[in-house]
Amino acid sequence: MNKISSFDVERIREDFPIFLEKIHGKRLTFLDSGASAQKPRVVLDAVQKAYTETYANVHRGVHYLSQQSTELYEGARKTICAHMNARSVDEIIFTKNATEAFNLVAQSYGQLALKPGDEILLSYLEHHSNIVPWQLIAERTGAVVKAVPIDSNGEFLMEEYLKLLSPKTKIVAVTHISNAIGTIVPVKEVIKAARDKGIPVLIDGSQAMPHMKVDVQDLDADFYVFTGHKVFAPTGVGVLYAKNDWLEKMPPYQGGGDMINRVTIEKTTYATGHSKFEAGTPPIVQAIGLGVAIDYVNSIGFDAIAAHEQALLSYATEELTKLNAVRIIGQAKNKAPIISFEMEGVHPHDIGTIVDQAGVAIRVGHHCAQPLMDFFDVPSTARASFAFYNNTADVDALIDSLKMVQEFFG
Ligand code: ALA
Repeated sequence: MNKISSFDVERIREDFPIFLEKIHGKRLTFLDSGASAQKPRVVLDAVQKAYTETYANVHRGVHYLSQQSTELYEGARKTICAHMNARSVDEIIFTKNATEAFNLVAQSYGQLALKPGDEILLSYLEHHSNIVPWQLIAERTGAVVKAVPIDSNGEFLMEEYLKLLSPKTKIVAVTHISNAIGTIVPVKEVIKAARDKGIPVLIDGSQAMPHMKVDVQDLDADFYVFTGHKVFAPTGVGVLYAKNDWLEKMPPYQGGGDMINRVTIEKTTYATGHSKFEAGTPPIVQAIGLGVAIDYVNSIGFDAIAAHEQALLSYATEELTKLNAVRIIGQAKNKAPIISFEMEGVHPHDIGTIVDQAGVAIRVGHHCAQPLMDFFDVPSTARASFAFYNNTADVDALIDSLKMVQEFFG
C-alpha cells in the first residue's frame, strides 16, 4: 500500500472526531460511508457557530442576524455552484435530501412533459429513490418506466441503452455510481446520446460527489442530484442542479413562503430561479455545513482522494478474494470504493452482526436497490463502502472480522 504514501490519511483521520470513539471497546472501522459519511471537525464547528453566533431565518429580515444568516446560506450556494461549475447560482436548489430532489423533478418535469405512452428510461443500477418517484408520476400520467439492463459484472450496457432510446423517451434518469455495487456509469456518453435525440437527462450523483469532481457543464446534464450527508455534511440537505431553461418551464413542486412573487386569494405568481423551488424555511444551517464540507474536500483534492481510494479498493478486493467462500457482487472495470459481497452459507445480517462486535461497521441488506438484487438473484448482500479517511488498517480489520465469521459458521 505504499502507492498512497503521498496522501497522509492518518493526518486526515485526526479531522474526524468520531475516530476517537471505541465501539464495543474496539477501534472503529467505519466502512459504511456509502450510507452516510462521517463529519470533519470544520463542519461540526461551522454548524455550532451558525446556531450559536449567526442564527436567524433567511431572506426574511432586515435585522443583522437575518442578514448574516442569509449571507452564509447564499454563500454555501455560491460554493456549490462553483464546485459543480454551474452557470449561475439560480441553477442550484437546496432540497432536504436527494430523494426530495428526485421527487421534485419527477413531479414537476412529469407534469410539464409526460403523456400516456411516453417512456422514462432508468437503469437496473438505480437506488429506489430514482425509481419510485418515476413510478408515481408514471401512474399519474400514463407514462411507462423502462430500465437499461446490466451484465453479470454489473456494467451498464451502453448498446442496450442506445436501443432503448426512442422518440417515446421523454427523460433518462440514471445513477453516476451504483450505491450497491460501485459501478461507475459512463454518464457523459449517456448524456451525449440522449442529447443527440433532444432527450433531457437526470444524473443521480449521490455516490459520485464524495469520490470525484463533477462538472455539470462538461457533462451537459440537465439535472444532477446529490445529498449532503454523503459528502461529509449534515443530514437534512440535498442539492438539485437544474439547467435554468428547465427551471423556467417547470411548474413549482411545492407551494409556500419564499417561492412567490405575489399572492392574492385568487392567484399567485411565482419567484424565479432556485427560489421558485425552495418553498418554506430552507435547511439553513445544513446548507452552511454543506458549503464548508465542499471546501474541506476540495482542500484535500479529488486527485489525491481518488488515488487513495482506488488503492484501498484494489487492496480490499484482493484480500476479500483470498477468503474462500466470499463472492464479490459487481466487478465493473470502473468502480468506486464500494464492495458488495456474500459469504457462502451465511446470511448477510449475520455477517453484519458479527463484524460489528469487532467494531467494523458495514451495511447489510438490499441497499435500497431491489431490482439490482433481483438481477443478481440475491435478496441482500454485505457492503463495505470506503471514504478517503479509511486506511489499510480498516481493510485488515474487515478481513480479520470476516475470518471470525467463517470460524463461527465453521
Ligand atoms: N443510499 C444509502 C446507501 O446506499 C442509504 O446505503
